Amino acid sequence: MDYERLCDGVMGTSASNPDPEKTGPETTGQGTAGPETAGPETAGPATAEPGAAGPAPAGPVGPAPAGPGGFGPGGFGPGVTVVVGGGAAGIAAVKALVEAGVPVVGVERAPALGGLWRLDDDTAAYEGLRLNTSKPRTRFSDHPMPPEWPDYPDRARMLEYLQGYADRFGVTERFRLGTTLVSARRTGAGWELELDGPGGRSRETAGHLVVANGHNHIPRHPDPPYPGSFTGTQSHAHTYRTPGEFAGRRVLVVGTGNSAMDIATELADHADTVLLSARRGVWVLPKRLLGRPSDQLNGALAAVLPWRVRQAVSQAVLRLAGPRLPAGPRLPAPRRGVLQDHPTLSDTVPALVAQGRILVRPGISRFEEGRVHFTDGTADEVDHVVWCTGYRAAVPFLEGGEADDPSRLLLHRHVFPLDDDALSYVGLMQSTGSALPVVEAQARLVAAVRSGAHRLPGRDAMRAAAVEELGAARARWGDRRPHMRIDVDQYLRTVRRELRPPRTPGPHALSGRRIVLTGAAGTFGRAMSARFTELGAHVVGLDLVRPDDAGIPFVPCDLTSPEAVDAAVAEAAALLGGIDLLVNNAGRGGPAPAELPPGEEVRAQLELNLLGAWHTTAAAVPHLERSRGRVVFIASRMALLPLPLAAAYGVSKRALAAYADALRLEVGTHIGVTTVYPSMVRSPIHDSTRRAGLSLDAVSRPEPVEGVVAAVVAAATARRAPRDLATTARGRVETALARHAPGLADRLVRRTVAARIAAGDFADAPMAAPMVRRHGG
Ligand SMILES: Cc1cc2nc3c(=O)[nH]c(=O)nc-3n(C[C@H](O)[C@H](O)[C@H](O)COP(=O)(O)OP(=O)(O)OC[C@H]3O[C@@H](n4cnc5c(N)ncnc54)[C@H](O)[C@@H]3O)c2cc1C
Ligand SMILES: NC(=O)c1ccc[n+]([C@@H]2O[C@H](COP(=O)([O-])OP(=O)(O)OC[C@H]3O[C@@H](n4cnc5c(N)ncnc54)[C@H](OP(=O)(O)O)[C@@H]3O)[C@@H](O)[C@H]2O)c1
Repeated sequence: MDYERLCDGVMGTSASNPDPEKTGPETTGQGTAGPETAGPETAGPATAEPGAAGPAPAGPVGPAPAGPGGFGPGGFGPGVTVVVGGGAAGIAAVKALVEAGVPVVGVERAPALGGLWRLDDDTAAYEGLRLNTSKPRTRFSDHPMPPEWPDYPDRARMLEYLQGYADRFGVTERFRLGTTLVSARRTGAGWELELDGPGGRSRETAGHLVVANGHNHIPRHPDPPYPGSFTGTQSHAHTYRTPGEFAGRRVLVVGTGNSAMDIATELADHADTVLLSARRGVWVLPKRLLGRPSDQLNGALAAVLPWRVRQAVSQAVLRLAGPRLPAGPRLPAPRRGVLQDHPTLSDTVPALVAQGRILVRPGISRFEEGRVHFTDGTADEVDHVVWCTGYRAAVPFLEGGEADDPSRLLLHRHVFPLDDDALSYVGLMQSTGSALPVVEAQARLVAAVRSGAHRLPGRDAMRAAAVEELGAARARWGDRRPHMRIDVDQYLRTVRRELRPPRTPGPHALSGRRIVLTGAAGTFGRAMSARFTELGAHVVGLDLVRPDDAGIPFVPCDLTSPEAVDAAVAEAAALLGGIDLLVNNAGRGGPAPAELPPGEEVRAQLELNLLGAWHTTAAAVPHLERSRGRVVFIASRMALLPLPLAAAYGVSKRALAAYADALRLEVGTHIGVTTVYPSMVRSPIHDSTRRAGLSLDAVSRPEPVEGVVAAVVAAATARRAPRDLATTARGRVETALARHAPGLADRLVRRTVAARIAAGDFADAPMAAPMVRRHGG
């Protein structure tokens, strides 16, 4: 029977699988590709599921109705997107929407654009405020800051920059200035807005609302307040303007954020005494390191290196090249590593503390008339307290309580609510670096979705991704606003990739290619066979059983049986009329500690993952040599970066890679040999590991199965077969790290495992008990 006829037969008889019960990946054993395989929850980056929050309904796209001068704001209406706020975020949002051809109106309650960089009663700015992010790291991508400006421009220049940007890109005329959005009520079609502008109150409608109202307006005071009563005066950093007003007074500055650093520094030259209350230690980073603005040292690697690697590197650099302080008092030492807090930058405070010009105190315990008592039992006479305790995010105009506490909103990409596609947020985030590139990226996302150029994933996929990100944020930043945290470089990279048009292989990239795929019934196998077929290939699957919904011919085969393999490969070659590509995908995983003698599980993994692939390849080599074909081995990131308690898997996959290398040396003149290294892809194969209490969730970042499939397609279609392929950019970095700095890679894994043990993650895992005991648990 030839391939075409067999395909017809398969399609026609798919319901007649003799034993449908055996079709699940767990029953096939071989059908699941390693412990790092995919599950249905993992959605591809740009896939839209039924019910997905899709693009704007037809209608809104198109040129905005022109206002006076031909480029005015136009009117409101159901097809119009309204952006609330004319700070950096709102300006970026309006610009991106204009550029995407989406009708947009901005409303800003102040008489001018620029948000908090305006020096005004309702802004957090003060006269001495400067950027603490450097020029090239702060600017929008298409609008440089003048070269003659200093590395860290002052507030007035920043305001000039933002307003110049808005003017240059036709944003200013899209705004209704002096107009406050008082309330926004969700209607079936969009929004009913109540505005308060120069002409009085008005009601308008809008199709979509972009909330860009900033979150540094409402002072956050200790809640509950510290006990006792204070007879001195007090204020919040929000109202601080100049240090002169505190001349000759004993001032207590509370907090260790950037407001506290700036204000304490300015007061040191004016006040009688400056006390700084730090309830915990934080890293205070210098603005310059190694002769450059310190935020420029990260380079492009920051986008791909795991933050723990960057943390280790940053701490080493700070130790070696950080500022040398004179002997004297110090700020309290941080308990957490660098990069695990919002960055506090100051060249001045550590030095002023060392000189005794700023006196450090711990947290406040209570007030007593003019005295402030601290947690270490000391007390000081204080005339004035400046609370530099930060700001509270609020979206007071949203009716219906959608955002009672916006700092706890679970949003997709920190922009899109999971249950309302008529609402987006821009700027509701706390960036590890500058805010401007982040709001620019968020604005582009909103514009791409509103214009229909980009489709969001389905709600379930968005929720899963947001929950996962939140977990990662908690692991890094703890409970301090985890919902709002953004690692700037990684976020920008994610958005860039998401908005990049997909680089898809041509529709006939595998046209006529004869492919044998092992483990074809598993999660990887199904995804691969579907894609290969779509790209024009003829595929025969080898697996224990044929699933009843298989779209390709199957040759049932136990890959651990040499006789069965020889016969199955011969049968597949006969069906296809030869073999151009063999994909060794079958594999199994499961916990197997290295310290225990190798038992059945270990042998089973070695039998299938290594010897099964070896034997299948050997049987296929004559066919591949004839066709000058290729062989692809699906190894695993664990072949390079092993994890404890999964020794059989790491060993078998590393051995598989070693086998591939040996094979290449022998047959590489005629056959292309590629090893692919996927990381964790969700699938039922992790169930046995999870059941043993050893989930990989906190160790490996899940990746979509599409990346693995794309890597195999790339291996099959590249002009020359690549030697090794990672399935994600992060995978490339991890692979390089494991190869070139294996000691560091080990340390990172060890540290993660130790943290998980300390967190009690292995408490219910008997297999981990000896390791937990050795860690003192
Ligand atoms: C003191 C300080 C210093 C900072 N320094 C830096 C720095 O050096 N580098 C950096 O990258 N980031 C810095 N930031 C972060 C800063 O938040 C961002 O740089 C950015 O300017 C924030 O822009 P935004 O548009 O989100 O908010 P904002 O600038 O606060 O703008 C929000 C706007 O919305 C308007 N608005 C609010 N509610 C309504 C309503 N109901 N109707 C109409 N209009 C409304 C407000 O009037 C305001 O103009 C700093 C923040 C503060 C507080
Ligand atoms: N460009 C600049 O130079 C500049 C200047 C000023 C501000 N900013 C930016 O403006 C934003 C706000 O900064 P911020 O410094 O005002 O606020 P912040 O970063 O939120 O810092 C608040 C500080 O107050 C402390 N705190 C909070 N509640 C407290 C309480 N009840 N008792 C004692 N301490 C308490 C916090 O301690 P915990 O950490 O322990 O909670 C933290 O040290 C940030 O994005 C910042 O980078 C930038």
